[in-house]
Amino acid sequence: MAVPVLSPRVSGIQPSLASILRRRARELRAAGRDIIELSSGNLDFPTPDHVIAAAHAAALRGETLYTDVDGTPELKQSVRATLLRDHRLTYAEGEIVICNGSTQALFNALLATLSPAEEVIILAPYWAPYLEQVRLAGGTPVIVPCPQNNGYKLRPDDLVAAITPRTRWLIINNPVNPSGAVYSRKELSAIAAVLLQHPEVWILSDGLYEHIVFDGDCAPTLAEIEPRLKPRTLTVSGVAKTYAMMGWRVGYAAGPAALIREMIKIQSQTTSCASSISQAAAVAALNGPQELLRQRADVLRAKRDHFARFLNGCSGLSCEPPQGTFYLLVSCAGVIGKCLPNGKQVLTDRDFAGYLLDHADLAVLPGADFGLSPYFRVSFANSQSNIEAAGQRLRHACEALR
Ligand SMILES: Cc1ncc(COP(=O)(O)O)c(C=O)c1O
Repeated sequence: MAVPVLSPRVSGIQPSLASILRRRARELRAAGRDIIELSSGNLDFPTPDHVIAAAHAAALRGETLYTDVDGTPELKQSVRATLLRDHRLTYAEGEIVICNGSTQALFNALLATLSPAEEVIILAPYWAPYLEQVRLAGGTPVIVPCPQNNGYKLRPDDLVAAITPRTRWLIINNPVNPSGAVYSRKELSAIAAVLLQHPEVWILSDGLYEHIVFDGDCAPTLAEIEPRLKPRTLTVSGVAKTYAMMGWRVGYAAGPAALIREMIKIQSQTTSCASSISQAAAVAALNGPQELLRQRADVLRAKRDHFARFLNGCSGLSCEPPQGTFYLLVSCAGVIGKCLPNGKQVLTDRDFAGYLLDHADLAVLPGADFGLSPYFRVSFANSQSNIEAAGQRLRHACEALR
């Protein structure tokens, strides 16, 4: 059998643990096991009806062609209005690009700017693709731990210590996946003060979960907190989590026109435009009624509290209800060192996640995937019955450890 010669750029990249786990959970499900999925980044809300209707109408109107690479004029206008509404940020048309999800916006920005040996500051716990995207783009990730005792947030002094002459970007996510931490305006101001002292560092601000917050309407972003940073900030977001449109694949970036032009160049030679129908749907989502966002955040808050109570009742586990996202980051420090019913010791959060999948039919993501151990992440965007069943299975699984 022919074996492809692999590029060194890619052979060092790890497949995401989340995708491996999802595959394993799928296999177990196919074998008849009742796996409860707690590891997914999907919301359990439907995409709103008016958004689906807009997509249907667009397809019937014949909006089934390639669009401009940087997105339809209608969607770019909606994004500009959204950034003004939510963040009081003003961008010109040439400062916006529509992508296939915010994942692509982030990657295009890194690919457009990084040279070998240039560094990107990533805050742990992190969304794993940041790390591999930086490596794929030829840069070097520099990980700054943001431990639980600092609310999983970046301390300005730690940022100062991490910046070197090679630092190109700081990636900052608000609210944070996986911890659910939300930076306040005051906390962002303190970070902005450091960045003002380092004009060579650019800021990748990822606000994908900005509307899933339990105190207030929308999480702030750095460019709105410190306008002097705006000329070197790329503000990234999308419709995936705000409107439960994960599979529609629409994200966007707003920033200096010179950077946006380079990102568009990459996109034109790789994926061309985002789906025309999804773009029409995104216009309806951004321009339509927004009350749903608060209602959904209230539903999620109740689920968060419910699940957190279950988790804190499990021997060896503890978590703090987060201020945003739909994830709970759970410390499993209290189970490390204990023995499984088969006598094997739990040495890492990966061991524990494997045990939960194989013996408790629960799919969770270990903290190792986010650069912080010993923890695991669970989603509370799940049905009440799943949350209750998962809580019981977790309690039994913890009680079975010796
Ligand atoms: C922190 C963060 N940023 C970006 C993304 C990418 O989202 P999408 O490409 O669906 O817009 C995700 C997806 O889960 C995420 O968690």
